[in-house]
Amino acid sequence: MKKERLFTPGPVMVPDEALLEMARPMKHHRTAWYRDMHREVHELLQYLFQTSSTCLTFTGSGTSAMEAVIAGCCPAGHKALVVRNGKFAERWAKECVTFGIDHTNLDLEWGTGAKPADIVKAMDADAKIDTVIVVHSETSTTALSDVAGIAKVTRDRGALLLVDGITAVGAIPVKMDDWGVDAYVTGSQKALMLPPGLGFAAISPRAWERVDSGKTQTLYCDLKAYRKSLESFDAPYTPAVTLVRGLLYVLRGVKERGLESIWSETATLARATRAAAVAMGLRVYAKDTVDSVTAILLPDGFDEPKLRATMRDRHGFSVAGGQGELKGRIIRLSHMGYVDAFDTLGAIAALELALNELGYAVTIGAGITAAQQAFADSAA
Ligand SMILES: Cc1ncc(COP(=O)(O)O)c(C=O)c1O
Repeated sequence: MKKERLFTPGPVMVPDEALLEMARPMKHHRTAWYRDMHREVHELLQYLFQTSSTCLTFTGSGTSAMEAVIAGCCPAGHKALVVRNGKFAERWAKECVTFGIDHTNLDLEWGTGAKPADIVKAMDADAKIDTVIVVHSETSTTALSDVAGIAKVTRDRGALLLVDGITAVGAIPVKMDDWGVDAYVTGSQKALMLPPGLGFAAISPRAWERVDSGKTQTLYCDLKAYRKSLESFDAPYTPAVTLVRGLLYVLRGVKERGLESIWSETATLARATRAAAVAMGLRVYAKDTVDSVTAILLPDGFDEPKLRATMRDRHGFSVAGGQGELKGRIIRLSHMGYVDAFDTLGAIAALELALNELGYAVTIGAGITAAQQAFADSAA
């Protein structure tokens, strides 16, 4: 059996202690035990999202929370602007089509993030837009959008801002209330370092007004049903008790470590990885790089699937490839959750070896030296 270290941008490595927590005997959820756990989870989720609003937990992957938000926050009579700058942004547009939501797409170059000026221009061109949807960290391209700046311009125009924070929340700065975001979404298999299976949505009072003004379009992902159950820290349908147990464990750890230090450590891992890529003669793909995941552009014609297979099968490091138009052109390494400088140095070492084995000459140690220097600089 070979050791496998997950560097994919979800799922990520799960701490052993969280796995043990989730291995404990099954308990029933219609109990004071579950409600007490859910109460503490809710408080900790508020800390995670930096909000005093309602934080809902769904049994499903991140898309379940996306679906709940869009189905609840865009009832008939409203129009959404969907910023499309990657595969996950495209999913929001698909959600709009699925639910028959009036929307317009704003297509940005892949690798770039949305800026306030993009939103202002689109809203000025269409007075019906009253809802803006952006992906904070577009995992497929590793681009960062300026959510704080966008929140300001959407607020000024009285529009709601719905944000996909699936690879942002718990990894990079997210300040829902300070910034004035109306809905933030995440999932369990990213910075929360749990197995896949839970989706989360934090909903602002302004967003609730919108939800309450319209007709619900979904049963399982109905925000109102989750809010009602949350009044008694219950769940409308059978919750994923095991995962929620793991969640409590990791959220306590996040609080203890502190978000500020998690954000700063994640940024250091990203900086070191970017420096390593450059030192190996490669390029970082995104223009507006995010710190939760790094995409490294491979030389033209390089056998990307073979590179990933070599890294995984020979050196024990799983990384992700590209999606859509980036398929075969990039590899992506995660900096989220249960990962540190020494894990990251290992991944860089594996990349150096695999590149050499496949005929792309890299000076052994060049990437590691650059990354070590970045770690040394950040510790100084
Ligand atoms: C930014 C972003 N949005 C949405 C999703 C979809 O989440 P899930 O696969 O958990 O449904 C992902 C998953 O990688 C993501 O990274």
